[in-house]
Amino acid sequence: MPHTIVIFGASGDLTKRKLVPALYQLHRKGRLPEETRVVGFSRTEFSHDQWREALTESTEKFAGKKFERETWDEFAKSIYYHPGDIGNRDDFVTLSEFLDELEGKVESERVYYLSTAPRFYGPAAEMLGAVGLSMENNGPRRIVIEKPFGTDGESASKLNDVVHSVFNEQQVYRIDHYLGKETVQNLMILRFANSIFEPIWNRNYIDHVQITVAEEVDIGSRAGYYETSGIIRDMFQNHILQLLMITAMEAPIRYAADPVRDEKVKVLHAVRPMTEEMLTADTFRGQYDGYLNEKDVASDSQTATFAAMKLWIDNWRWQGVPFYLRSGKAMSCRTTQIVIQFREPPHMLFDSCKTRRCESNRLVIQVQPAEGIQMHFQTKVPDAGMRMRQTDLDFRYDREFHGVMPEAYERLLLDALEGDASLFARADEVEAAWAICDPILNHWATKSQPPVYTYERGFWGPMESTEWMRETGREWFDTCPVLQ
Ligand code: BG6
Repeated sequence: MPHTIVIFGASGDLTKRKLVPALYQLHRKGRLPEETRVVGFSRTEFSHDQWREALTESTEKFAGKKFERETWDEFAKSIYYHPGDIGNRDDFVTLSEFLDELEGKVESERVYYLSTAPRFYGPAAEMLGAVGLSMENNGPRRIVIEKPFGTDGESASKLNDVVHSVFNEQQVYRIDHYLGKETVQNLMILRFANSIFEPIWNRNYIDHVQITVAEEVDIGSRAGYYETSGIIRDMFQNHILQLLMITAMEAPIRYAADPVRDEKVKVLHAVRPMTEEMLTADTFRGQYDGYLNEKDVASDSQTATFAAMKLWIDNWRWQGVPFYLRSGKAMSCRTTQIVIQFREPPHMLFDSCKTRRCESNRLVIQVQPAEGIQMHFQTKVPDAGMRMRQTDLDFRYDREFHGVMPEAYERLLLDALEGDASLFARADEVEAAWAICDPILNHWATKSQPPVYTYERGFWGPMESTEWMRETGREWFDTCPVLQ
């Protein structure tokens, strides 16, 4: 069956940087379903050829060494453009006619990809409904919605209502590009396709879990967006909670969209609601030095560019195991890692660990860069009595698989085209994630606690965050990955 992907917001940055390069890679690898067409929709007046030309230039830039002119030219033949305004019904009517003509009125699968400014998500969905483009009488119709999905629980729920007035939930694909990352999917493989990890993946063996998403970059030229978003909306509500869900979920009954998402949502529902006391004591915010001088940032801005928090998951598996989450811009290095810190052995026989604390086992999942997994354990130092030190078993994707990691969007676009929603967020999942973030955002907006701590660029966030962790008797795992 032919496939058509219609990109709304076609002249935007995401289309150029990620979507079209990912579709091109899928074509180059022979993964796109046969007869896949790409149609751009936005207000800019391009002809088909002008849009193809613009994309040739941008794809050459963003696909880098993998760009092959001949393969691209072949792919570009299936790219089309339809100028239009999301507020204008007539433009959707002509779009509908154009799509019918393109597909020759035969049964086809269609994906409508909303890569517009977020305020247009609702109106675009409504307009698709108004002209009958959501109807599935001539093949499946799906809608992909980019992040951010709402700015709080209330707006997300309203957006869900609008979208559901046109599409049923099975047709809706809310994207979180972290789920497209190989290493994030591998976390499910690690946990559920091996038998040695699950028995110890619980409160009996694990002391705590740390999830860090550190970025070296600052906000760049995105102040307009970032000032209204801040780190909680930008990273926690989506990417970090996704990592938390996959780390903490129970095994789904099978790998399919709803069983997977059922288990993920249960984790969010089990997160202990934060009391006022917890909000003050267990959440932490910071701002990098110089943020206030960034263009378009208010001189007294309280926007957090760093946050850390401690969450509890109230279920049998995780009772009493704190989950420490943190993320920030302008930090020491780019690293996303999940650290499973195991408990100390119940009784230590060796003197060297009696006089100084020996680190206990740690499993580090390097989500990016330097994708891989390390298991840290104590080893006897040769020819030194019973002295020991920490060593590791080290799995690295680059050494093992030698290939370049695909872009997250490749997997997600292909799944959307093929109708597999396992790696997309469901309506209740997005709302449950907001239910965790809303109280933090409200607390920070109205209270002066916790204060906004300033941190130097190139550090692991504010010094106070290190202290905050130390007070719990634990340490952040502050390690930059070694790139080879
Ligand atoms: C985006 C955020 O969703 O994720 C950005 O809006 C952030 O602020 C980016 O930089 C991080 O993605 P990645 O894949 O580079 O970790």
